[in-house]
Amino acid sequence: MTERGQDVHRVFHDVERAASARPAVEFLRSVEAAPSVLAYRTQLAEHLAPAAGETVVDVGCGAGHHAAAIAAARAAADAPGPVVGIDRPRMLAEAAARHGDAVRWLPGAGEALPLPDDSVDAVYAERVLMYVDDAADVVAEIARVRRAGGRVALFELDYASMVLGGDAKTAEAVLEVVCGTVRCDRMGRTLGRLLTEAGVLVVDQTPYALAIPPPVWASAVRAPVEEAVADGRLDGERVADWFAELEAPGAYPGSVTGVLACGR
Ligand SMILES: C[S@@+](CC[C@H](N)C(=O)[O-])C[C@H]1O[C@@H](n2cnc3c(N)ncnc32)[C@H](O)[C@@H]1O
Repeated sequence: MTERGQDVHRVFHDVERAASARPAVEFLRSVEAAPSVLAYRTQLAEHLAPAAGETVVDVGCGAGHHAAAIAAARAAADAPGPVVGIDRPRMLAEAAARHGDAVRWLPGAGEALPLPDDSVDAVYAERVLMYVDDAADVVAEIARVRRAGGRVALFELDYASMVLGGDAKTAEAVLEVVCGTVRCDRMGRTLGRLLTEAGVLVVDQTPYALAIPPPVWASAVRAPVEEAVADGRLDGERVADWFAELEAPGAYPGSVTGVLACGR
């Protein structure tokens, strides 16, 4: 929990205006290795399950780790077909540099997907909607490009559900700061309603309790909290005591709920 990091949320809100995409790309890479991520990815893969020739789209694909993994899994399962990763150009440059051309990297925004109506068999977005101005616009676009009956999967964190240990009052103040780093701190619990309003039949909503591993803690909690101390929103001494409390043997390391919503 002592690891220091950079608040990567600003990059995810608008990577084109960030000084550098690199810290965010490193953050995404470290998240990929977390066991809790692998757990919901298994369910996600089972739901999307593209047959040979079907098109899969990853909206807000970031550094492309997941889209590249899907392309590799399809090749290994002898079910090849197009995998498309959509994000801002700067993020896609990082994705292409890391993963080459097994995925078609398509610059664009979730609010105006650069794809025709009814053209996609399986579409998903992961940890994207919590950053956008209007998630309903993005979900409407996802519904537009999906072929009738095609699969949709959305995975989002619900920051307001974060469980933090240590002194309760300080944890509450910290949570308020952390929730302020995303556009919507209740996105996980909102997915089913958004899909329904977009005309997608919700077939499952599974909550996942995710541990907050040190690199995530550094970027998602410690960095914004230190910024809040620097600009006077939080008391430095109180926060230092709280961080020390979390270092003590047996302290709770922190967790957050993510929700995987699957639709057809
Ligand atoms: C936390 S990252 C998640 C990346 C990837 N989905 C993953 O799970 O590793 C959020 C991503 O959403 C992208 N993003 C943010 N707003 C977007 C928008 N309006 N349209 C498309 N992508 C967007 C960011 O550029 C960033 O790559």
